[in-house]
Amino acid sequence: MQRLVIVSNRVPAVRDRKQPAGGLAVALRAAVQDHPCLWFGWSGQQIGGDGADRTLSVDTVGNVTYATIGLTHKEYNGFYQGYSNGILWPLCHYRAGLMNYSRHDQQIYASVNTLFATRLAPMLKPDDMVWVHDYHLFPLGKALRDLKVKARIGFFLHIPFPPWSLMRSLPEAPALMRDLRAYDVIGVQTEDDARNMNEAFAVLGIPAKARVFPIGIDPDSFAACAREGQSLPQVQRLRQDLRGLPLIIGVDRMDYSKGLPERLRGYDTFLKRYPEYRGKVTYLQITPVSRGSVPEYQSLRAELDQIVGHINGTYGAFDWTPVRYLTHPLPRELLAAFFQLSSAALVTPLRDGMNLVAKEYVAAQVPENPGTLILSRFAGAAADMEDALLVNPHDSDEIAAALHKALSLSGSERRVRWERLRAEVWRVTAASWARSFIAAMSEVRTA
Ligand code: G6P
Repeated sequence: MQRLVIVSNRVPAVRDRKQPAGGLAVALRAAVQDHPCLWFGWSGQQIGGDGADRTLSVDTVGNVTYATIGLTHKEYNGFYQGYSNGILWPLCHYRAGLMNYSRHDQQIYASVNTLFATRLAPMLKPDDMVWVHDYHLFPLGKALRDLKVKARIGFFLHIPFPPWSLMRSLPEAPALMRDLRAYDVIGVQTEDDARNMNEAFAVLGIPAKARVFPIGIDPDSFAACAREGQSLPQVQRLRQDLRGLPLIIGVDRMDYSKGLPERLRGYDTFLKRYPEYRGKVTYLQITPVSRGSVPEYQSLRAELDQIVGHINGTYGAFDWTPVRYLTHPLPRELLAAFFQLSSAALVTPLRDGMNLVAKEYVAAQVPENPGTLILSRFAGAAADMEDALLVNPHDSDEIAAALHKALSLSGSERRVRWERLRAEVWRVTAASWARSFIAAMSEVRTA
């Protein structure tokens, strides 16, 4: 069997079985279980000095060899925080106004991509299939080709790709698009993303084509987590605390793309419009802090603290807290079990590549009493999850109405919606996504 070489900025912690941050690493780890695999990327560590003597750490667990390098402080700031998360991330999420554009960061981004290529190329064999992931690494394929790498190289973008009229506000967008020619297969999450990217290729006269490979989860393992998690003491405690009243849940990295202030305002509107629910419902929002030193993420944190405080101060009672709000991560089993316990989930990003929390929520439910998914129309997942209650995340009245509906649906209505969503979550999985991408790479003729 051919070796699969995965390259991503974030590599899951090798010996830590707990959930790594973000959907990418979770989905990929589930996807590569059957292949001999080399996984190359950033170690997650910052190193002192100028990086000249940086070492590659290599560790093998099962079928996967993890090879990682550290980034210097300057690289971390310019490549990870600056260009990837301060420029490309907002732009690809249709938020050009939040871009902190800097040529200096762009140069560091380019140099870290070259560094990745230089360290990876000597490890590659001609019949490897190299699969590059996400916006941190747009130019990596080109950098590998410059080093005469002949192996097949594919690229998958996990986040949205905006219309060219927006994307071109990035000065080096045409160059990034040209670099994508180095890839044999280019994958994106949704038809919208493919249309946007192909429009950009057409405008620039670049002979490349993006194809759609929607990502999923490993639903069996998530469902098993939800089952096993039921016996955790924290789950028993939450159940007792709720005294049979409905729980609404939200789980998101702390990111402005997730629509958290808008969602909280939707909950505020719900409590205002439907006072009969005051004291009769609990909203648990779990929002692990991420990219905490990027300024926009710091101001988001302050805004959320303020809104949560406002809601709890306005509606709370000595024996009732309307919003329970955590900013640290919880173990996967606990999350899955909380999903199963809840009556509704709010997954309302302003823009999201796919959103795997939506799929996890569905996977965690049981037929006897399935909860209802309230999903943003602007999550990639919405394209195939029309049986969720779809909302415009900017519209707090629509969120409030969806919450009211979710809590009023009859058992049979909930079951019908859930059965259809369930079929979809089991149809497109992390494994099927990886299989179809790898099949597309296999069809490419090597030089
Ligand atoms: C999103 C991105 C991933 C990223 C993850 C977590 O899912 O598509 O590439 O790894 O967020 O973000 P972080 O900055 O912590 O890696």
